[in-house]
Amino acid sequence: MSAPDWLADTRTSYDTVADNYTDFTRDALAKLPLLRGVLALFAEAAREVGGPVADVGCGPGLITAHVRGLGLDAFGVDLSPRMVEIARRDHPGLRFEVGSMTDLDLVDGSVGGVLAFYSVIHVPDAEVPAVFTQFRRVLRPGGVVMLGFHVGDRDSFKTEGYGGLPMSLHVHRRPVERVAGWLRDAGFALEAQVLLGPDDEVPGGVLIARSPA
Ligand SMILES: C[S@@+](CC[C@H](N)C(=O)[O-])C[C@H]1O[C@@H](n2cnc3c(N)ncnc32)[C@H](O)[C@@H]1O
Repeated sequence: MSAPDWLADTRTSYDTVADNYTDFTRDALAKLPLLRGVLALFAEAAREVGGPVADVGCGPGLITAHVRGLGLDAFGVDLSPRMVEIARRDHPGLRFEVGSMTDLDLVDGSVGGVLAFYSVIHVPDAEVPAVFTQFRRVLRPGGVVMLGFHVGDRDSFKTEGYGGLPMSLHVHRRPVERVAGWLRDAGFALEAQVLLGPDDEVPGGVLIARSPA
């Protein structure tokens, strides 16, 4: 079956901007101590569970490599083949695969953690519950998921980005409680909620949740 239009458009968009995205974000983590702190929270929780950690929608692998440095056995999955090429080039010791969070090519109960940072933002509301069910399926009992997303209540359609390159995809800003509710509906128990930049125009939401033991 062919990919739905929104998924194909998201893939093409990120293939188009992958090189610029990589250049624009290369130093981002070095400048964001609170984001590093949030990733450390996740690393503490996932290390205790043990097992591999999937960074889903990993882009060029910056966060995958960072949490690897925190001692996690992290690997990346991304929809965009160009993103995966760049991630492999920039982080040759790590594993990166092309794949979609809507249909993860991972064995049931095979990972201790799932990270999805600013990647579920492109999934339509109607499809998010199925994505969280995928996360639950691939996690071990007691495994942890951490999501990063734009907070708000708006769906915008992005036609260009990262230096004026053409894009064609939706970017969803969501209330924290809506995302938390979808996680609960998928069987997760919420463990932490962080709001980054609460006074910013678009704060960053971070949720950490656990699958049942
Ligand atoms: C804004 S970037 C974030 C990249 C990385 N997580 C970071 O924080 O730097 C969004 C990434 O999610 C990927 N993505 C979007 N939809 C996806 C899907 N359905 N499955 C896997 N990856 C997806 C895109 O290809 C892109 O690399």
